[in-house]
Amino acid sequence: MKYADLIAKMTLEEKCSLLSGEGNFTTKSVKRLNIPGMFLSDGPHGLRKQAGAADHLGLNASLPATCCPTAATMANSWDPELGEELGKMLGEEAKAQGVSVLLGPGLNMKRSPLCGRNFEYFSEDPYLAGKMAAAYIRGIQSQGVAACPKHFAANSQETLRMHSDSVVDQRTFREIYLTGFEIAVKEGHPQSIMSAYNRINGKYANEDKELLRDILVDQWGFDGFVVTDWGGSNDRAEGLKCGNALEMPATGGNSDRELVAAVKAGTLSEDVIDQRLDEYLNVLFATVIPEDAPKEFDVDAHHATARKAAESTIVLLKNEDSILPLKAGTSVAVIGDFAQTPRYQGAGSSMVNPTKLDCALSVIKSGSGLKLVGFEPGFIRHGGADEAKKNTAVELAKNAEIVLMYMGLDEISESEGLDRKHMKIHQNQVDVLEAVAKVNPNVVVVLSGGAPIEAPWLDSCKAVVHGYLGGQAGAGAVVDVLTGKVNPSGKLAETWAMKYEDTPAYRHFPGTEATAEYREGLYIGYRYYQTAQVPVRFPFGYGLSYTTFAYADLRADDKSVTFTVTNTGSVPGAEIAQVYVSRKGGVVFRPEQELKGFVKVFLNPGECKTVTVELDDKAFRYFNVKTGKFEVESGDYEIRVGASCADIRLTATVAVKGTDAPAPYDLSKLPSYCSGKVSDVGDTEFEYLLGRPIPPAKWDRSAPLGMNDTFSQLFYAKRWIGRLVYAILTHLKNKAEAKGTPDLNILFIYNMPFRGVAKMMGGAFDMDMSAALVEIFNGHFFKGVGHLLSARSRMNKAKKATDLALAQAGNVKGEN
Ligand code: BGC
Repeated sequence: MKYADLIAKMTLEEKCSLLSGEGNFTTKSVKRLNIPGMFLSDGPHGLRKQAGAADHLGLNASLPATCCPTAATMANSWDPELGEELGKMLGEEAKAQGVSVLLGPGLNMKRSPLCGRNFEYFSEDPYLAGKMAAAYIRGIQSQGVAACPKHFAANSQETLRMHSDSVVDQRTFREIYLTGFEIAVKEGHPQSIMSAYNRINGKYANEDKELLRDILVDQWGFDGFVVTDWGGSNDRAEGLKCGNALEMPATGGNSDRELVAAVKAGTLSEDVIDQRLDEYLNVLFATVIPEDAPKEFDVDAHHATARKAAESTIVLLKNEDSILPLKAGTSVAVIGDFAQTPRYQGAGSSMVNPTKLDCALSVIKSGSGLKLVGFEPGFIRHGGADEAKKNTAVELAKNAEIVLMYMGLDEISESEGLDRKHMKIHQNQVDVLEAVAKVNPNVVVVLSGGAPIEAPWLDSCKAVVHGYLGGQAGAGAVVDVLTGKVNPSGKLAETWAMKYEDTPAYRHFPGTEATAEYREGLYIGYRYYQTAQVPVRFPFGYGLSYTTFAYADLRADDKSVTFTVTNTGSVPGAEIAQVYVSRKGGVVFRPEQELKGFVKVFLNPGECKTVTVELDDKAFRYFNVKTGKFEVESGDYEIRVGASCADIRLTATVAVKGTDAPAPYDLSKLPSYCSGKVSDVGDTEFEYLLGRPIPPAKWDRSAPLGMNDTFSQLFYAKRWIGRLVYAILTHLKNKAEAKGTPDLNILFIYNMPFRGVAKMMGGAFDMDMSAALVEIFNGHFFKGVGHLLSARSRMNKAKKATDLALAQAGNVKGEN
């Protein structure tokens, strides 16, 4: 242990005090030993440091910071170098604002397009997500600030996120849900990592020793500290034993007392506390921000970097008759509310207070070279018919050569704490688009939104430019693509299904009661659509350019793939070439092909470059549930090089020498997984894949409510008081939804287990008081109130005793 001497000087109370928050985003200090506190802040695409009152979901304003494109957007750049540059900028801003740990990037897998937080995550593919995350981490940490990839792991839905149990087979877990984190840890070396809220196969992620120690530390070499997600601690001592060091946010010292008590009772060894403390201190001291570090950053330069990033992410989805780019002087009618009020980021803990904000309308007006004939909002942003608005839009459309139709997902559609219910955009937008297209066929749709949508309206426009959620400078970048100043080079990092019913987890997403069953196994995203041959709207890796590229001269072996790319068009552009590996037959079922490498190459017209993509240890491996390790099958593999997963241009076969482990399955028992047709896997087959009985998916409504049951379950409460609380919460939730702005606090409480009261109220409640609350909800009103009062007085007494113990050790109250 690096800090053994320092730790030896601490009392047990002091040690435990350092292992949980002082405030919402701060940790405690021990002044007598010169141990400072640290500041942690969200978030993944820009800093959210609340200078005044800090609340965990970002309701109070934070200091202005550069709002970069969100992760879902950045992944479309397929450009880790750019990710590193953004990470560096985020780190610089963090340092300027006194933040030592930046809570990002987020890299959960997009199991379903409906996860409300998909805009914060990179991809449906673990290789791409891992590479991008590792790059961000390197960038952030180059500034002396710790990155904190999250949420580790299998946290792919917002519904009941603090309660739900992700039921997932080991192979899928390792190959899909952990590989991104593995790459991020091995190639990014993050100094911290955030454990997820959810359970995985019955255990809370924060209390899963195999995950937090055996895999993360022993197998991947992680040497930072693990922090809980906010309020995600359950059994404090168990979490610590399993590898978690820091519990956030503050619990008024209640959690620390649980640790002291566990040591005194002999159920937790003080050595474990020392070990976790050492992990934490290591990062704490390594990220102390020097007094003379700049307190400002160059707002304009950072805005320009955010714009450059956005330019690289824009995906041209359609360009019929090469209607784009628009020539200078083209007259345009701008329609759609999103042109004046941009959607550029998502809602929740990642919400940034931007230093500036570009809006399409002003960019078009000032210096774009386009001739603006007028603007009409056209539709009500949050849905609902408005004939007058539609009619004025149609009239306006008649007066211009081109209609720029700005549409997309609104704020309520994508938010932390909420999963989308469907994949559509509001029908009123589609109605306006169709009406406008009837009077002017030259419609260019500009989309905003952080996740795929159904696009049955595609025939009503000639072009679609997708800016995703492009951050504060995204609007200008899109206009540059429209006018051809920038040649689009983004490609989709996720598949766009034709319709929601086609998505692989359709029947099992989200888990709405006790569990979330990952029955589709490793067939998420293109792995499913390509294997099961389900047609899609836009495939993974797809995106158009104003130029064209030719691929040739493939040479491949089991270490690398070399080929040439030529720009065969007339304008400069960048191409994202993708390397997939495919293998048929063998002892395990596999998706049709899997991404194992990619490269983004910039080429002038006529220019040709030879590129080499290295194949790493993940190129041919699979996880063998019998040996408990990754193995490689010997034999021939097909290497496929393509412009998207559905546009393969070159192929070669390579022979690979493997480890040839024993076959892990009896494949005859896994027909759906062998064919990839996994949209409706039956119990017997899923159970065989899982290797254990499927746990009950439903709540036991006859059982009394427990500490880990959620406020949403009060619907089933036996007594009026519980049902009343449920009715009030539901009313508030519905009211906010109707207004179009998610109420994040209500959503959080709705999905929160009762123990969360002890974890999220800054120490006003402890676990015994939460238990008394549960008693009340279970109908034992008077007994519960009695227990609540006695628990409260016990808690207050214990607080005084801790204060005394800390004071006796030489700490002045108020300074800790
Ligand atoms: C989110 C985390 C975030 C944390 C702190 C949690 O609710 O899940 O992603 O970092 O809050 O704001």
